[in-house]
Amino acid sequence: MVEKTFIMVKPDGLQRALVGDVITRFETKGLKLVALKLLLLDKPTAEHHYSVHAQKEFYKDLIEFITSGPVVAMVWEADNAVYIGRKLTGPTTPNEAPPGTIRGDYCLNTQFNVIHASDTVKNAQREIDIFFRPEEILHYDKSIRHWLGLDGLEPAR
Ligand code: CMP
Repeated sequence: MVEKTFIMVKPDGLQRALVGDVITRFETKGLKLVALKLLLLDKPTAEHHYSVHAQKEFYKDLIEFITSGPVVAMVWEADNAVYIGRKLTGPTTPNEAPPGTIRGDYCLNTQFNVIHASDTVKNAQREIDIFFRPEEILHYDKSIRHWLGLDGLEPAR
C-alpha cells in the first residue's frame, strides 16, 4: 500500500553536510519526494513532535539539540515507505545500526543520530501534519521515460 513517511535530517546531519547523502539514499532506493523544507524548529513544535518522549530523562537535551540549528523536513512516498525509511535509517542506538544504514555509517552517539524516521504509518501522518500544510504535499507522477524525452519516440540507434 502506498504510504508517506516523515524524514528529518537533524541539526548534526545538516552541519556535517549529510543532507545530500540522505536525500540520495531515499531517491536511489526509489521513493518519491513529495515535500521538503529547511527550517529552524521552535520549542513548541519540537515539544509537540517529541511529546511521546516527554517523560524520558533525555527529553530536555533532545529539545535543546533539535532546536539548536536548521533541520531538513521531508515527506517520502512509496509502498511500505515507513518500513523502508526505518530500514534505510537503522536502529536508534548507533552501535546496533549495521553498516549500510545511515546511522550505521555516520553515527557514534544516540542523540546526535543524523536523522529521524517515522516508526508507524499513524505517527508518520501525525508528524507530517506538524511540519506541513496539506497544500505543501505534492501529487505528481514519476515517469523517467518522459523526462528523458523518450515518450512516443523510437529508441535511439
Ligand atoms: P529519534 O528517532 O528522532 O527519536 C527520539 C530521539 O531521542 C532519538 O532519535 C534520539 O535522537 C533521542 N534519544 C533516544 N534515546 C536517547 C538516549 N538514550 N539518550 C539521548 N538521546 C536519545
